[in-house]
Amino acid sequence: MERLRHDGVVVVGAGLAGLTAALAAGPRKALVLTPVPLNHGCSSAWAQGGMAAALSEGDAPELHAADTVSAGAGLVDPAMARLLAQEGPEAVRRLAALGAPFDRTADGGFAQSLEAAHSKARVARVKGDQAGRAIMEVVTVAALAAPHIEVKVGWALRGLLQDADGRVRGVLAEHDGQIIEITAAATVLATGGVGGLYGVTTTPAELTGDGLGLAAQAGALIGDPEFVQFHPTAIDIGRDPAPLATEALRGEGAVLVNAGGERFMARYHPDAELAPRDVVARAIHAEREAGRGAFLDATQAVGEHFPDEFPAVFAACMAGGVDPRVQPIPVAPACHYHMGGIVTDAEGRTTLAGLFAAGECASTGVHGANRLASNSLLEAAVFGARAGKAAALEVDPGTRPLAATPAPVLPAEALKRLRAAMSRDAGVVRDAAGLNRLITEIDALEAACGKAPALIAARLVATCALARTESRGGHFRADAPEVKAPKRTFVTLADLPAASP
Ligand code: SIN
Repeated sequence: MERLRHDGVVVVGAGLAGLTAALAAGPRKALVLTPVPLNHGCSSAWAQGGMAAALSEGDAPELHAADTVSAGAGLVDPAMARLLAQEGPEAVRRLAALGAPFDRTADGGFAQSLEAAHSKARVARVKGDQAGRAIMEVVTVAALAAPHIEVKVGWALRGLLQDADGRVRGVLAEHDGQIIEITAAATVLATGGVGGLYGVTTTPAELTGDGLGLAAQAGALIGDPEFVQFHPTAIDIGRDPAPLATEALRGEGAVLVNAGGERFMARYHPDAELAPRDVVARAIHAEREAGRGAFLDATQAVGEHFPDEFPAVFAACMAGGVDPRVQPIPVAPACHYHMGGIVTDAEGRTTLAGLFAAGECASTGVHGANRLASNSLLEAAVFGARAGKAAALEVDPGTRPLAATPAPVLPAEALKRLRAAMSRDAGVVRDAAGLNRLITEIDALEAACGKAPALIAARLVATCALARTESRGGHFRADAPEVKAPKRTFVTLADLPAASP
C-alpha cells in the first residue's frame, strides 16, 4: 500500500465547509481530497437561495438566532445558534471580499430575500438562485491559488486511520483503484450529507453518508441522525437528483396549488406557503398521497422575469418541458439536508482526538429538528473556518496508525435497494412498522455486502427514527404524531442494537 505522510491537515470534501477549513488552516499545510469534480460536484454549489445573515437595518443576530431556535423545534443549542448568527455577517462579507457577486441594493448594501420561517428578509443571494454556484466558484479559485493548499480530485475516502489510543491519524483514500494511507496531524471531515441514501435527492447522489458512517465506526459520538430534511419543492420531472425550485420563489409570492387549482397550504398552517419547511413538505406529501398532486405556481409572482430572476429554476423547468412563466411547476418533496451528524464543539472537534467535522456531516447543534432555510451555507462558512483554524493547531503526535483495511463499497444494485427502502420507510412520514422493515433490509444488505459506510449511516437514521416515538420537525411519526419533552439524540454505534443474524 502506498503511504503519504502529510505534516498538516487532511480535509475530506471540497464543498464550502471543506475549502473554507483548508483556507483557514493556513499557513499550516492542508491537503484536500475529493472524489467528485471541484465546484459543481458538491452540494454547496447546488444551493440556490443563498446565505442567511443579519445584514440589514432592522435585523440583528439575536433575531436570526431566535428564528433558528424556533425553526429547530426545541432541539437547537441556543449558544451555537447565537454564535452562528453573530458570525454570519462577517462570513458573508468575507465571501464578498473574495469576489462572490452578491446582489446589491441601490445604496450598495446586500439585497436579501425572504424565506420560510425567517422573521426578516435575510438571505444574501446571487441573481435569485445562483448563490451556491457563485460562492463555490470564488472559494474554489481561492483554494487553488492558496500556496498552503494541495487539492487531489478523484480521491475517495475509504477509511479512518487510528492509533492504539483511538486518535485519528489520517485517512485511507482510494485513487485510480489504489488504496493510499495518508497520515496527518489532523483530519477534517467535510463529506456532506446523506441525500444519496434516498430514492430522490436534491444533492449530488454520491453523498451517501460515508464520512458519517466511518466516523461512527471509529467510535465518534453521533447527534440527531433521525432528523433528515425534505425540501418541499423539488421539481418533479422524473430526474434524480431532482432540481430544486428555491424557497425564495415562495418568498416572492409563488403559491402552492393542487391539480384542482386549490391553494391548499392554508388548510395546513396559518403561514401558508411560508410555513416551516417540514410542514410544507408534509402538506405536499399529503396532497400527492391523496391523488391531488402539488404544483408551485409562480406565473403571477415571477412570470416573464423567470429567466433573469431565477435562471437555474427556469432552465431546469424548461429542460423538463415546463415553462414556469406560464405553467405551474410540478413539485414533490425530496431528501435535501441531514440535520444530524458527527457531534462537534464550536471548533469542529469531534469526540475523537485528531478528528474534526464541518458542514452538513457535522452536528453542531444549530439545526435541531429542522434547519432554518439558508443556514446551511452559513454553517459551512462559519464552522468550516473555525474547524480549519483549530485543526491547524494540532501537533503531530508521531504515533503510527494501526493497520487498517478499506471499508467495503456498497455495490450499485444494493445501493438501489437501500435508496428505495429509505424513501419508503424513513421519508417524510414514518412509522414503527416501516422503520422495522427498513432495519431488516439494512441487516440483509449488511450480511451480503459487509459494513459499508452507507449502511452504517442508514442504520443510524433508521434506528434513531424508530427510537424517537414522537413527531418533531423533520421527523414525523404517523403512529406517534404528538410532541414529547425535547431531547436530543446522542449515540455511538456501540449503543445501537446489533444486526439481527
Ligand atoms: C432553497 O433555496 O430553497 C434551499 C435553501 C436551503 O436549503 O437552505
